[in-house]
Amino acid sequence: MAQFNLPAHSVVGKGKTYYAGAGAKNIKRFQIYRWDPDSGENPRLDTYEVDLDTCAPMVLDALLKIKNEMDPTLTLRRSCREGVCGSCAMNIDGVNTLACTIAIDDIKGDVKVYPLPHMPVIKDLVPDLTHFYAQYASIKPWLQSITPPPERERLQSKEDRAKLDGLYECILCACCSTSCPSYWWNGERYLGPSVLLQAYRWIVDSRDEFTGERLDDLEDPFRLYRCHTIMNCTKTCPKGLNPAKAIAEIKKMMVERR
Ligand code: SF4
Ligand code: F3S
Ligand code: FES
Repeated sequence: MAQFNLPAHSVVGKGKTYYAGAGAKNIKRFQIYRWDPDSGENPRLDTYEVDLDTCAPMVLDALLKIKNEMDPTLTLRRSCREGVCGSCAMNIDGVNTLACTIAIDDIKGDVKVYPLPHMPVIKDLVPDLTHFYAQYASIKPWLQSITPPPERERLQSKEDRAKLDGLYECILCACCSTSCPSYWWNGERYLGPSVLLQAYRWIVDSRDEFTGERLDDLEDPFRLYRCHTIMNCTKTCPKGLNPAKAIAEIKKMMVERR
């Protein structure tokens, strides 16, 4: 796994340890960020010993085993369990990724699990993505056209359809945006790599007729130009996408239309 340890949420409280049952021979320790806003306590790292002989292979499997068998208060999101919904995005072993796609065996030593960095936390491993989704809505992620719709679907050439490859696969997990230092510091106004990749997905769609308006909307020192080509986004994307390239393509279009 690519390793570029990101600064995680600070932990100041002493955590609890949950031990594996007697007879467990294949133990892996999971250190997990815990914070409950209703408790009034500081965040802490709890340690859970998991018997890998009775656990399915992925980090998400271990987290669910912990929740089901050791500590029902552990809070996390998940849905598909196969890397297509984006809801289990978190920071595992220093990398923003999807818990359901990371094998426990690929992590050496204790497994450290934190919520996505630099986002407000709702509870434990669940970040507050309200602002992220509002930014996504702001780029109008739907087809805009003034031409009346045809009888059947709006057709594209194979070449135009191919321009969407590497873009439509984005699952909006936010791993890239929360790995971007520029988004950490300017997230209120900078759209970040995930939303900009989505913006580019509509800018290059041959069926969309609002390309100029979409570019106008991004022509702003913060919304687009706070990308400084740091590349953490592309390095961390669990779907193997390249948001940095999408941002570069938007910047190129801005120059070309001047
Ligand atoms: Fe997640 Fe990759 Fe989409 Fe970013 S570009 S939101 S990391 S799938
Ligand atoms: Fe950030 Fe990626 Fe740009 S990490 S600065 S969005 S290249
Ligand atoms: Fe859907 Fe992991 S649970 S991506």
